Amino acid sequence: MRNIIQIAVDGPAGSGKSTIAKKLAEKLDMLYIDTGAMYRALTYKIISMGIDIGDDNAVTQAAKSSQILLEKGKVYIDGEDVGEKIRSTEVDAWVSRVAEIPQVREIMVGIQREMAMSQNVVMDGRDIGTNVLPGARYKFFLTASIEERALRRYRDKKASGAAENYETVKKEILRRDEIDSTREIDPLRKAEDAVVIDTTGKTIDEVLEQILMRLGDGVDVL
Ligand code: DC
Repeated sequence: MRNIIQIAVDGPAGSGKSTIAKKLAEKLDMLYIDTGAMYRALTYKIISMGIDIGDDNAVTQAAKSSQILLEKGKVYIDGEDVGEKIRSTEVDAWVSRVAEIPQVREIMVGIQREMAMSQNVVMDGRDIGTNVLPGARYKFFLTASIEERALRRYRDKKASGAAENYETVKKEILRRDEIDSTREIDPLRKAEDAVVIDTTGKTIDEVLEQILMRLGDGVDVL
């Protein structure tokens, strides 16, 4: 088997991990896998179908019968491009509940591991370094102050036309962090061997540079 390079990027909401992981994958010519988008796509489908999110069996059945595909920066569920829809406030509000269900995680993690088996990947999420790819060659854990994380999300929301205020966004992030880091199965946690990068006050390029420095000569940069 070819020597596959796996790079895990974990961190809480708004830590910058998706932006950074995506750019890193471009620079290294690797596949970018946004695992949060997978949980979001399933949540979107469940809401649209009117499935009761409190009903673990129904949600698990929906996960089992769904085709989730990440391709060329787009996210599809059962053939529908849901890239924009999965960032809605409603999906934000419910995704952590869906991602708490052990059987749902099992299905998602299976797909994620398979994608990372045959090609070089940069994968971002909450449990990549600890659970999905514990043997990843490089692991990063991104953090940022709650104020900065909330501000980033608030700006994203405003740019996409959503009418929300900063305090509401901040509360929502804190609530999601709480659920994501206290759930029983594979909570948000830094892997012991992950490098922590605090992105507060740093530009995207500064964070990328820190990561590339850590990778050293181990990978080729485009
Ligand atoms: O990264 P994000 O905000 O798009 O993730 C959405 C939610 O999905 C997050 O609140 C928790 C869940 N998630 C997870 O449980 N495990 C992952 N590997 C990625 C995301």
